[in-house]
Amino acid sequence: MAGAASRGYKVVKVHHGEPYEMKRFAAMSTRLRGYAMRMTVSGALAQPLTQFLASIALAIVLAIAVMQSTTDQTTIGGFVAFVTAMLLIISPLKHLIDINQPLQRGVTAAELIFGLIDEPAEPAGGGRALLRAQGKVEFQQVCFSYGQANAPTLRDLSFTVAPGEVCAFVGQSGSGKTTLINLLPRFFDPSAGQILIDDVPLTEYCLTDVRSQLAFVSQEVVLFNDSIAANVAYGQTIDRLRVEQALAAAHLTELIAELPEGMDTAIGGNGMRLSGGQRQRLAIARAIYKDAPILILDEATSALDAESERHVQAALEVLMRGRTTLVIAHRLATIERANRILVLEAGQIVEQGGHAELLQQNGRYAQLYHLQHQSQQVT
Ligand SMILES: Nc1ncnc2c1ncn2[C@@H]1O[C@H](COP(=O)(O)OP(=O)(O)OP(=O)(O)O)[C@@H](O)[C@H]1O
Ligand SMILES: [Mg+2]
Repeated sequence: MAGAASRGYKVVKVHHGEPYEMKRFAAMSTRLRGYAMRMTVSGALAQPLTQFLASIALAIVLAIAVMQSTTDQTTIGGFVAFVTAMLLIISPLKHLIDINQPLQRGVTAAELIFGLIDEPAEPAGGGRALLRAQGKVEFQQVCFSYGQANAPTLRDLSFTVAPGEVCAFVGQSGSGKTTLINLLPRFFDPSAGQILIDDVPLTEYCLTDVRSQLAFVSQEVVLFNDSIAANVAYGQTIDRLRVEQALAAAHLTELIAELPEGMDTAIGGNGMRLSGGQRQRLAIARAIYKDAPILILDEATSALDAESERHVQAALEVLMRGRTTLVIAHRLATIERANRILVLEAGQIVEQGGHAELLQQNGRYAQLYHLQHQSQQVT
């Protein structure tokens, strides 16, 4: 989110969206002014109204008191005490009315806050501990849909990835690839079927243990406005030696050497001071540092220049070594390296096999491949 916000300005500038954004800003300001105005007016109206009502009440009570005193029902002392008490009560009454406005505002805010508190907590998972998985991943007839109203995004997916194997997913945009890998860290749970790591259903493991088995390099690189070292060791204590090794493995040593403060250099909001390829490599360094047995890779669709691409490929090579890898592949090089390719279409596996084998079958994969071959990418 923060990343999207910080990159938003580029879209605005490139598309000449300034007038549009200004209009939006003006419209929002007008609305806000309207609300503020209404609040002030209702607040200001309340005061004279209460004053008026209080005065009427006072007049009536005073009239009764005067009437009583003329018929000798009360003493002078009693009369004076009564009138003084009446006068004294007006001011607290006014304050009571003034409370109404902040109270209403507080109630509205409380509604929002309680709404957030009432959000269901993430499932803690079962009690089973998992120190370090072997890395076998299995999907058994997994179905998933975003909300009940939507059509199912994943339908009856079954496959097994052996420890250390590289399994690539290809398919058209929107075929459900990202959804599929988001099920592994339990960002969502399948609506039917189950997912197993080392032959045990995910739900039986402690949630934090499941997530500590996974290194995730997502489609959108997310970096924090902190030093390079803090970004690499994100979520863990910074071991400078290991950070250095991870950076070297991710082909970032040269970059670090050029920076004035080395790995302690701040990289700006979402790594603004880095190039696209460097940002990707930093995300890879983070995954290398985490050293998890299962790697999930959602390759960026954005193409890099040849030199950058070579560095990223080399960094990926190190990262994937000895780990079970589930990769959404857009790069030809990654796909060719995969032990197995699963072709997804509308949330279903329509073909699977090796690169050469699938090409020979001349089916969906071959079609996708030929379609994208000229740009050296398969999407
Ligand atoms: N949070 C969401 N809520 C509702 N629908 C969603 C959500 N995320 C994705 N979808 C829908 O689910 C389908 C699959 O999306 P997904 O992101 O898994 O596709 P993908 O294969 O990763 O595509 P791409 O190659 O473009 O990244 C799409 O039709 C999309 O509209
Ligand atoms: Mg995707």
